[in-house]
Amino acid sequence: MNPKNFIKECARLDKVVPMVTVVANKEILNDLSIQNLPEQTLVHCSIVNANRDKKIFINPDQFNPQRLDLNKILVWNGLEEDILNSDETKRPIRYCPGHDLSLDVIQYVVEQFLPIPNMKLNICEYQLIKYHRLDNYTKLVMRLMNIAVEQATRYPARAIDMCQPKYKNKLGMIRLPIGKSIPSWDEDFPRGATVFRRFVRWLMNKNLWQFSDDLFEFDSIEQAIQWRLKMFSSLAAPNVIFHDVDSDKTMTQLAFSGCACHYTCRLEKPIDELPQAIYVNDMTCLARFNVRKPFERYGAAAYFDENCRPIAIYWSHACRLVKRGEQFWEHVKFVWRSSCFAYITICDHLLVTHMIETNTLVSTTRQHLPHHHRLRAFLKPFTYHTITINHQASISLINQFGLVHRTWAFNYDEYLKLNDYILMNYRFRLLPDYLSTTMSPKANHKTADEWDRIYPIYHDLNSFWKIVRNYVKCFFEINYSSIVSLDEQLPDDVYLRDFANELAKQLGIEKLISLNDLIDVLTQLIACSIGFHELVGQSSDYLLDPRFIGMKLEENKQIQNVQTYSQALILSVVTSLRMPNLFDNWTHLIGHDEFYLNNLHNYENFKRDLEELSQEIDSRNKIRNYPFESFNPKFMDCSTSA
Ligand SMILES: [Fe+2]
Repeated sequence: MNPKNFIKECARLDKVVPMVTVVANKEILNDLSIQNLPEQTLVHCSIVNANRDKKIFINPDQFNPQRLDLNKILVWNGLEEDILNSDETKRPIRYCPGHDLSLDVIQYVVEQFLPIPNMKLNICEYQLIKYHRLDNYTKLVMRLMNIAVEQATRYPARAIDMCQPKYKNKLGMIRLPIGKSIPSWDEDFPRGATVFRRFVRWLMNKNLWQFSDDLFEFDSIEQAIQWRLKMFSSLAAPNVIFHDVDSDKTMTQLAFSGCACHYTCRLEKPIDELPQAIYVNDMTCLARFNVRKPFERYGAAAYFDENCRPIAIYWSHACRLVKRGEQFWEHVKFVWRSSCFAYITICDHLLVTHMIETNTLVSTTRQHLPHHHRLRAFLKPFTYHTITINHQASISLINQFGLVHRTWAFNYDEYLKLNDYILMNYRFRLLPDYLSTTMSPKANHKTADEWDRIYPIYHDLNSFWKIVRNYVKCFFEINYSSIVSLDEQLPDDVYLRDFANELAKQLGIEKLISLNDLIDVLTQLIACSIGFHELVGQSSDYLLDPRFIGMKLEENKQIQNVQTYSQALILSVVTSLRMPNLFDNWTHLIGHDEFYLNNLHNYENFKRDLEELSQEIDSRNKIRNYPFESFNPKFMDCSTSA
């Protein structure tokens, strides 16, 4: 149900301001059609009666938030449909400026206290039953999750705690089964994990724990949500709430405003079988990889019409196209949503963001720039704790029999092949190039504002990119005073050149010659750590309801079972433990030398630009088809969390 409509229907039946008094002028007298009423007469108007007028509303005394005449209400000092008019000049002159805000505030407050309907079970009793049926590994990681949350709550990450770069000869590089090398010694966590943590990690990775896919289910959706609320109360607050998670509308939201929206593109050629298809979001590549029995393969491609409505889905497991309304429609929607989430998490989040780009940034910075180098201090906030995060992920999450292996249904050798496939197909790109050229306003015959309502990432990603790039560019202009043009070769700084060569080598970049090239590469690595990571790593939005996303696909099922939902929630909680907020203050890292004031000024401009972008996104979200927060700086950390 649409929560805004629910609030409006409440307001229609029980208006806060029941009556207004107006001074009648000629126009009002004409409207009222009352004879012999002199001008300047005070007229008392009952808004309560107007909102229950039988000539306007069907069954006006009935509470019906889905009524088609709902926007005929008079509540916010004007006719609702006029207030919603996209043409501002046609809105009522004095409608309530708090119209949007009041709806948002009411919705937020209600959601905090929303009761779970039809909850008849004794919570403790069923919790105990479900908990005892979980495998021991899942129970163990649930306990570890609670310890990690408790520590993160007690000692939240703060920018002020970021230490100055330190000298270290070796970073303890280790080689992972997925073919990447990562450092293990972190100047931000020099003593490493406590003895207790190391013991627990050793215990987790012992072959003591049965590897099993248990299929027992929740008795009802209400029970599943109670399970999540009680057992995973530390799940991060969502940035965006998806309503009616299994509806066709939510498919549109996920494809155009959700974590998979950077994979949506216009079709190059019409499809004979689907002449109305204009857009596609293709996740069929996952079908190449085998899964454990009795699960279905992942992989699906969703097609959308000109109005972004889903019209058909190609279902890889059954090798068939299912059109809207046909048999299996609900199931293939679940398959596509689940395939999107699997690909985004395994490819974009764990591999590209963590193991490739942030790993390259932190390892190259710390190995090839001396601790006193200004660039190293400049990059410090964006690499804070990254070595520890990536190292822990490699030995607890993406390892064999680790949480990722258990949560999704891939055989481990197939999971490694999936990693190989992603690594082989990885090409270093700048963030604006993540979006298809077919997804610009011009390519879709829309103005920038029209397109922003439909595909908000286009504006937000590009705006964010420009701010970060300007910050990096200004750093070089300030600290390398000999620069005449950014198109010149790199400055005569042996450390900087060595650093740039290593970046190019690790990222497979052919051309990293000019300062402009280096600025682009560094901007990408920073933007990936803080912005792209928010898009692909903010998982709690997708796990509030087990009917939204499935980690494993079962025949004819559109809801997660107890074990898989629990493992997915654990993964979400442990990957949501925060780093310092992007708006925290890290000016103590700026060196007190001749460039100090200019560097400080650059830092302040950066923060101001981010604040302005955040306010602009808040404002744009009021009129977008669906809110989009993935590049809203107010939600970002300054470095990648797990
Ligand atoms: Fe992460």
